[in-house]
Amino acid sequence: MSWTKDSLIQAAREAAAGAYAPYSQYHVGAALGFADGSVVTGANVENASYGLTLCAETVAVGKLLSDGLRGQLEAVAVIGGKAGQLGSGAPVSPCGRCRQMLSEVAQLGGTDPTVWCVGEVEVLEILLSALLPHAFGPANLA
Ligand code: THU
Repeated sequence: MSWTKDSLIQAAREAAAGAYAPYSQYHVGAALGFADGSVVTGANVENASYGLTLCAETVAVGKLLSDGLRGQLEAVAVIGGKAGQLGSGAPVSPCGRCRQMLSEVAQLGGTDPTVWCVGEVEVLEILLSALLPHAFGPANLA
C-alpha cells in the first residue's frame, strides 16, 4: 500500500481545506485508504437548512461510490477543528450516520477498517466494527 497512517492523516488535513462550513465554522476532512493504495477524501458541506449538512466522511463515500470506485477499505482518517485550529481538541469520531456510510463501503470490500480519529493529544485508533457493532449492511438485503 502506498499510504501510511501519517499520509492518510495528512490527506484528511488537506481535504479539510475544502470544507464548506459557514455556519459551524468547524472544518472536517476525511481520507479513506484502500488496499490498492488509493485514497479518497471528503470535506463537510453545510447548508442554510442546517439539518441537510453532509459530513466529510459521507461526502467521501458519495464521491467514491458515484465515481464507480470499489475496493477494500483498510483505514479512515478524520480530522476537524475550527478554522485555523484543525486537529485541536478531542479526537473527532465519525457521527452515527457516517459510521453507517463507511460500513457500507467496508462490507462491499469485506474489510473492517481501522479508524484514526485525530485529536490534539492523541490519535484514537479504533476498528469500524467497534464504532458500529452489529451493523446493518448489503448482506441483510441479499
Ligand atoms: N462533521 C463531520 O463532517 N464529520 C464528523 O465526523 C462530525 C461532524 C461536521 C458536520 C458539521 O458540518 C460540522 O462538523 C459540525 O457538526
